[in-house]
Order: sequence, then structure tokens, then C-alpha cells
Amino acid sequence: MLTVRDPQKLRDVLRDWRRAGQRVALVPTMGNLHDGHLSLLERAHALADRTVVSIFVNPIQFGKGEDYARYPSTLESDSVKLSANGLDLLFAPNLDDLYPGGTDRDTRVTVPILDHILCGAFRPGHFSGVATVVTKLFIMVQPDVALFGEKDYQQVLVIKRLVHDLCMPVEIVAMPIVREPDGLAMSSRNAYLNAEERRKATLIYKVLSAAAAMIENGDLNYQGIEAEAMATLARAGFRPEYVSVRRNADLAPPEPGDRELRILAAAWLGSARLIDNVPIRLKQMR
Ligand code: PAJ
Repeated sequence: MLTVRDPQKLRDVLRDWRRAGQRVALVPTMGNLHDGHLSLLERAHALADRTVVSIFVNPIQFGKGEDYARYPSTLESDSVKLSANGLDLLFAPNLDDLYPGGTDRDTRVTVPILDHILCGAFRPGHFSGVATVVTKLFIMVQPDVALFGEKDYQQVLVIKRLVHDLCMPVEIVAMPIVREPDGLAMSSRNAYLNAEERRKATLIYKVLSAAAAMIENGDLNYQGIEAEAMATLARAGFRPEYVSVRRNADLAPPEPGDRELRILAAAWLGSARLIDNVPIRLKQMR
């Protein structure tokens, strides 16, 4: 496995691969890798001849007072995992290489509507930060295919929209959520939970799964279901930001006749902000 920090060196390697007619996959990450990240890498191997994983903790997608400063940085153990999983190239750029204009008044990419709802409403600027760094990574790597996890479902839609609107020739592949045995979605931020919070954290998936089952069984009182789920989480000591039933394709509120839905939630537990989501498929004839 090659580890590259310098974008010029990255270009040299990529040029050789392209000359050999090889298809390139990119898996963007912020490191502190777990099996969720590795599932993207495994799929990337199946979809391309060469895989690049990027590790970069992107300052501009963190709000003031968020966890940028304490976000776990584990490059050495991440390298070991990636190399053991057959990665071709780890790209770990420096801040100055990704933000030559600085991070304050630089050029940004914003995706309308999607970046203002749900997580975007609670984390202003977050999705613009994600869209901007992913655009830069796509320009540097020029992948044929890039893989993202549905754990960050809204992020997947933001990326799909930006690729479409900016006419980027990149195929976006969304992968299912990898969970711990008790159902908690794997996340680098689970490390912020103490033992008691960790035990409790599984409730978020339980609540979403129960709500999804109620809806699939014909209860279409979405607002009542959302309110009840919020109350259950709050009673257990979470500080929920939202629980919301949305249309799967664009995260708009569901319209009569929509059958592919998703229930999404964000909730604080101690100092960890947890997000999760569960798909809902309504039967025909409603
Ligand atoms: P990060 O949180 O490191 O996640 C990197 C990728 O792994 C994302 O596509 C995310 O959705 C996916 N992922 C995380 N947990 C997962 C799980 N339990 N199951 C499946 N996939 C999972 O998301 C980011 O980094 C950043 O916003 C980034 C896209 C790299 C831009 O900075």
C-alpha cells in the first residue's frame, strides 16, 4: 500500500493507473476506521481495479464548538487496517494542500434545500463543508466511482446532487449501514460514549425500527409517531434533535402515494451526537 500526502505525487500514481486502463474507486473518510468504513473498501475492490481511501479531518464541516479539536486521529492504526484489507493507495493530504486559500474565505460548494433540512438545520454550514471537500477530493483523484455509507443518509443525497449539478463523471454508490451486534450504527463518535451511555445508545435504532414497523403496518400518523419516538429517547436521557419520516429519494416530507420512505434521527447522548436511519417500504394499495 502506498501512502501519499502530496497531491502532485497522487497525480503521478493516478496517471500511471489510467495509462494502464485501470478503473479507480475513491472512499473518502475522516479516519478512525471501523468495519463500516471497511465495508466501503471491500465493495470498492469489487467495483474498480484500484482503490484510493482518503483520510482527512475536514475542519470546515465542523461548526463552532463541535468536536473538530478532539476528533480521534489514528493514522497509524488506520494504515495497518487499510493495508491488511488490500488497499492500493492511502491519500492523507495536509490542510494547506486542500485549502490553499485558507479555510475562512475560500471558495465553497453549496447544495440547495438538502443542506438546510434535518441535520443541516442543526449544523449550519456542515453540508457545504462536506460538499466542498468532496468536490476537491473528486477533482484531485478523478475517481470513476466513489462510495459512501447510508449511515450518513443525507450526506449521500448531498453528494449525488452535487455530482449531478456539477456534471461530474463519477458514479456514486451508497452502501448499507454496518451495525454493532446490539444494533448501534458503527461510528467514530461512539468512542465518546461512556459504558452506561454505550449500553443505552442502542435505543436509537430500536426506536427507529419500531416506528418503521408501525408505519409499514399501516399507521400513517407520522407526526404522532415522530413525537412518540422523540419522547421515548428523551425519557431515556437522550437529547433528541429530530426524528423525522421523509421521502427516501429526496428527504422531502412524504406525499400521499409515496411508498419508499425513511425515518431518520439525530440525538445527543452525553457528549456524542448520534445519527441513524431506517428505510420504510409501504405496500401497494394505500
Ligand atoms: P466519516 O464519518 O469518516 O465516514 C466516511 C464514510 O464511511 C462515509 O461515507 C460514511 O457514511 C461511511 N460510514 C460511517 N459509518 C458507517 C457505518 N456504520 N456503516 C456504513 N458506512 C459508514 O462521512 C465522512 O467521514 C465525511 O463527511 C467525509 C465524506 C469524508 C467528508 O469529509
